[in-house]
Amino acid sequence: MTTNDHQNAAGGTDAPSVNVVDDRHPLPDPGLEEHRPRPTDVDEGLARRAELQVTALFALVPVLAIAFVVIYFAVPREMYVKFGSFYANAQHVGLGLTLGIAVLSIGVGAVHWARQLMNDEEIVEERHPAHSSDEDRNATLAEIDKGIADSAITRRKLVGRSLLGALGILAVPALVTLADLGEWPTPTRIGETLEKTIWGTKRAEKDPGVYIVNDVTYKRVKAADLRIGQLVNAEPENLQDLEGHELQGEKAKAALVLVRMEPSRIKVPESRREWQVGGILAYSKICTHVGCPISLWEQQTHHLLCPCHQSTFDLGDSGVVVFGPAARSLPQLPIAVDAEGYLYATSDFTVPVGPSYFERDSTKDYKKGDN
Ligand code: FES
Repeated sequence: MTTNDHQNAAGGTDAPSVNVVDDRHPLPDPGLEEHRPRPTDVDEGLARRAELQVTALFALVPVLAIAFVVIYFAVPREMYVKFGSFYANAQHVGLGLTLGIAVLSIGVGAVHWARQLMNDEEIVEERHPAHSSDEDRNATLAEIDKGIADSAITRRKLVGRSLLGALGILAVPALVTLADLGEWPTPTRIGETLEKTIWGTKRAEKDPGVYIVNDVTYKRVKAADLRIGQLVNAEPENLQDLEGHELQGEKAKAALVLVRMEPSRIKVPESRREWQVGGILAYSKICTHVGCPISLWEQQTHHLLCPCHQSTFDLGDSGVVVFGPAARSLPQLPIAVDAEGYLYATSDFTVPVGPSYFERDSTKDYKKGDN
């Protein structure tokens, strides 16, 4: 083994300065410069100043954590800020800045601490076969103990405590954001949210029900405008009264497909005789497998195919599953037509829309095809 098989280091300790020509390489190893102590190693005043700088960086973290919490509760979620071409949600900007600067402060403080205050010692690391004998383990543990001593954390107690405080206080923003997971899903709460849609809430007292509108034009759909074989993506008219999170939540649950089929070619059970208008039927657009929106429509077979995992529903037979992993029929919406020929929902869906796991805590017993 030649000298270059070692990682060489020179220093003010006992590390040798190496300048040996290796047969395999024409250039001599220049070795390392002589070790020079840092200003903070020789001047206690500078060391104290560095200690205060590190402490100040760590002390900034609790302030930013409190600011995070204040912004979370005080800044309205609908508020936006504009700087030139930059346009963003004010709460997101505030939360991002406070949490980001807090983490940055810990990082910068830790680097400053390591560079200025931890023991500055250069060592020679001999290469040797890697193994993990008891001896090595004990040596490693001893090194860890030495590292703790070298970090000066036991001597510089202020730095250690401020770091612990800074790391501990970061749990507060994490806990606060758990509030965004929403309310605890009790059966009652599920019944009021996941198992209900806006189709059951009339827009005006005089309306016979919730009018169905085209989800592109937002105009009411007239029964006479639907051709046999046609599929229209639709939504409830009263969505237009909502905004923000409420709009998104209700829109996701209320998505609808309207289809018109030849009445003589569809099966309408007695219990659903009043749910359709001359071969026009309305179904949830949300797949009952894991919730993809569906609208791949096969006119001839009356099948609606989900593009995600190929679940196929027969809309001419109460939306039952004819293929694929979905375990439940597509929920059908009862509809009727007013005096002017516009379609409206006479009630909400009678079963929950969306993936079947929504039913886990339900108090009702929904059976396959029984919707
Ligand atoms: S989400 Fe429709 S088949 Fe899986």
